[in-house]
Amino acid sequence: MDRFIIEGNRDLAGTISVSGAKNAILPAMAACLLAPGKSVLRNVPNLIDLKTMAHLLRFLGAHVDFNSGELSIAAATITSNEAPYELVSKMRASIYVLGPLLARQGEALVSFPGGCAIGTRPVDLHLKAMEALGARISVEHGYIHAIAEKLIGADIHFEKSSVGATINALMAAVLASGTTRIINAAREPEVDTTIELLNKMGARISGLGTTSLTIEGVEKLVPAAMDMIPDRIEAGTFLVAGALSTQPVTVENYVPGHLDSLLEKLRAAGCELDIRDTGITVNPPQKIKPVDVLTLPYPGFPTDLQAQFTVLMTLADGVSFIEDTIFPDRFMYVAELNRLQADIRMERNVARVRGVASLSGAEVMASDLRASAALVLAGIVAQGQTTISRIYHIDRGYDHIEEKLNRLGARIKRETA
Ligand code: EPU
Repeated sequence: MDRFIIEGNRDLAGTISVSGAKNAILPAMAACLLAPGKSVLRNVPNLIDLKTMAHLLRFLGAHVDFNSGELSIAAATITSNEAPYELVSKMRASIYVLGPLLARQGEALVSFPGGCAIGTRPVDLHLKAMEALGARISVEHGYIHAIAEKLIGADIHFEKSSVGATINALMAAVLASGTTRIINAAREPEVDTTIELLNKMGARISGLGTTSLTIEGVEKLVPAAMDMIPDRIEAGTFLVAGALSTQPVTVENYVPGHLDSLLEKLRAAGCELDIRDTGITVNPPQKIKPVDVLTLPYPGFPTDLQAQFTVLMTLADGVSFIEDTIFPDRFMYVAELNRLQADIRMERNVARVRGVASLSGAEVMASDLRASAALVLAGIVAQGQTTISRIYHIDRGYDHIEEKLNRLGARIKRETA
């Protein structure tokens, strides 16, 4: 298993560019199953999770090719309706094939996703949405079995904002007969990208960017080609890296508006930000000010940046409180940061972070994707050497993060065991 060896106490400076957004590309890939013919997604990075999704689509009968940032998916026929355990257990986002299979094939058999390192993650809202559209759902031998000869448009009222359930509901409803309304839909930018792609494919979805979506069902969809949006979480990770530095760092290829909640917190921490259409420069503060964070659905502060921001707070001049309302147990990395001599105490589900003068390198272990990114940031600024094991987590969602950060002055070596 690969690990990172990081020489700490590095000062980053320069310009770094953001890749395409994993969490927009995953549903886009699943959406391509809806149209017979070849769809093309551009600005696609080289990530393990995308390879897992490609593997799943091939298993279902699609032809998937990846060439210099371009992913082509040809789904002339679907030859299997099953998302097997081996693939779903690797990646929960495999649940995204539920809606498209049900809509196009009238049946889906999808392994029930288990728990994961960021806490319990139920799929009840996905299932309720399919049921609202007329599917019969049963859970058999660890599999979700969904059947519907023809989906029928309906009102779907989500009691909780869910990115995944909103997207699955959209992908099912586009081929349903009649009108579907999704109430309390998630409005993360990744949902918008899915809507844009589906509409390019001939769907009729209105309400983009709002919590109320209306879908007029159509008979069939056609293939489409589309550029994928830059990854706001990767951009945010690099902005925090800049805030931890003493020199300006510029993050390029970012969408204005996608990260306002983070930018507000960075300013509160004392950073000066120079915001342009294509990039942001972070001028780090002399002293980092403590800032409290509460994660919320978009446009609130993203849970996927919670761990990285906590690293910034470990070096703040005072105490801050970090709470995650989306995944309340997403704090497994805290014990690892404390090994680096951070001072974080969990008080129920709230992290109480007392800033220290410096972190100190140590051996640590990554528990999930964003936790790995947080440990990398901590390792770059810690005194001495930090070794991070289990970095396969980071390769799921960041395309060669060590190469990008090394270009800014970090010293991260990948060691393949
Ligand atoms: N929830 C339910 N029932 C459901 C679905 C969700 O109770 O059926 C709850 C979840 O437990 C959570 C909340 O609703 O408390 C929101 O979860 P959501 O469904 O929005 O999350 P997701 O779609 O499973 C996506 C991202 C996550 C990101 C969350 C929140 C993908 C592939 N994953 O997950 O990304 O944290 O939205 O923004 O898009 C990551 O990239 O590291 C990652 C974990």
